[in-house]
Amino acid sequence: MPRPTLLSRREFVHVSTAIAAAAAFDRHGLSTDGVAHGGVRFERALPIPEILTPVRRDTTTDYYDIVQRPGNGALLPGFRTPVWGYNGRWPGPTIRAQRGRRVVVRHTNALPVPTVVHLHGGVTPPDSDGFPTDLVMPGDSRTYTYPNTQPAATLWYHDHAMDHTGRNIYMGLAGFYLLDDPADTALGLPRGERDVPLLIQRRTCDSSGALRYSTHRQLGEDGAIVTVNGVPSPHKDVATGRYRLRILNGSNATPMQLALSSGASLMVIATDAGLLPAPLPCSSVRLGMAERVEVIVDFSGVELGSRVMLVDDAARGDAHWVMRFDVTRAERDASRIPEHLGETPDLGAADASLTRDFVFAGGPRGFPPAAHWTINGLDFDAGRPIATPRSGDVEIWRLTNHKRFGILGMLHTVHIHLVQFLILDRNGQLPEPYERGWKDTVALDPGDVVRLAMRFPRQRGRYLMHCHNLEHEDASMMARYDVV
Ligand code: C2O
Ligand code: CU
Ligand code: CU
Repeated sequence: MPRPTLLSRREFVHVSTAIAAAAAFDRHGLSTDGVAHGGVRFERALPIPEILTPVRRDTTTDYYDIVQRPGNGALLPGFRTPVWGYNGRWPGPTIRAQRGRRVVVRHTNALPVPTVVHLHGGVTPPDSDGFPTDLVMPGDSRTYTYPNTQPAATLWYHDHAMDHTGRNIYMGLAGFYLLDDPADTALGLPRGERDVPLLIQRRTCDSSGALRYSTHRQLGEDGAIVTVNGVPSPHKDVATGRYRLRILNGSNATPMQLALSSGASLMVIATDAGLLPAPLPCSSVRLGMAERVEVIVDFSGVELGSRVMLVDDAARGDAHWVMRFDVTRAERDASRIPEHLGETPDLGAADASLTRDFVFAGGPRGFPPAAHWTINGLDFDAGRPIATPRSGDVEIWRLTNHKRFGILGMLHTVHIHLVQFLILDRNGQLPEPYERGWKDTVALDPGDVVRLAMRFPRQRGRYLMHCHNLEHEDASMMARYDVV
């Protein structure tokens, strides 16, 4: 069953006329300066971010160096798009980590603004987790350590600077961090060239190809152009057989509903934090901001010369066409999809020592009014934890997306650092089948109540929970929690 669709932008503007009237934001005037990219749809090939080579390895650890610096993307043909990238690249280079081997990354900030690096989905010690006030100033470096003790998963690293995460990620500061483990590798899933990371992000640019960032009065920057690995609606030449797609919605504020134009199913094999117990065929998958899903797409029965589109059913216009697969050659494919993938999640409400409540809500503030977003009515306070769970304990966190007088009813995708959780229920019902694996981010439509079960790992210290609509996060929908 598809989930009810969210408020579209238009409906949202409609329900929030009280604010809109004063604020007079013109979302579409800010889109693309009338530059349609439809003419170049599917023209360029999908780039695959390079896999970063360690500068050094020893028996326990791989060491990497990354310089955050300005670089160039290419949103429009014939124009350069200034970006901020890890090693100047948008997306940043991919880090390929092995479970049980530590990764140490030294980041040097050669950008004009302070930055912070967070490994999204990582079970990371607090001083390496990228707390938003642990800023790395221009010219400075900081070393982040990742223990990689968790199961295989598609993680990503991105900026987390206080008040400016939205802008910094929008400018390009995001990359994949793929964690492998022998249990995953032994499954025989598609690998090598058939293992493809897709970072999907919406962007807005002007007629010179430059990125245009706006918080839209803290409603969220949902660009009009859909990019995959930094290129608007690319194509990829594929062979017959199976592909493993690791899909990340890295947009600032745009959820997606992904499907294949052929009507073939997406075989879901993993959620945010790792493999599902068994493969799950889905006709479409909803992916909120920062959520990941891994799917197997099978081009075996497909005729040479066929073209299969990955589409976003939540988007109209150009952004509907995410990318195209062109089946151009026949090839032997030795991959398989075993019936049993990962372990069955074994955490239930009965294991929990307590339930905590968190209410996500918004309202207008300031003049001209902009949306201000809070958790339990509180602004973000770096100096005060909102909760202090004990290491080793299991807790239930009940999250409510509170809609106030129909105003500022928006989707919130809530992310909790450090832990992996199970969604016990949403509005009293089981979540979507493809949401029943380990997760670190969960989508809440207006009015939704979800209950999450999680066990706090051994790391103790300061962590975060926040909305991954990055403009909501920057407008205070973020809270510190401490594991004690
Ligand atoms: Cu993806 Cu706190 O972040
Ligand atoms: Cu995170
Ligand atoms: Cu939000």
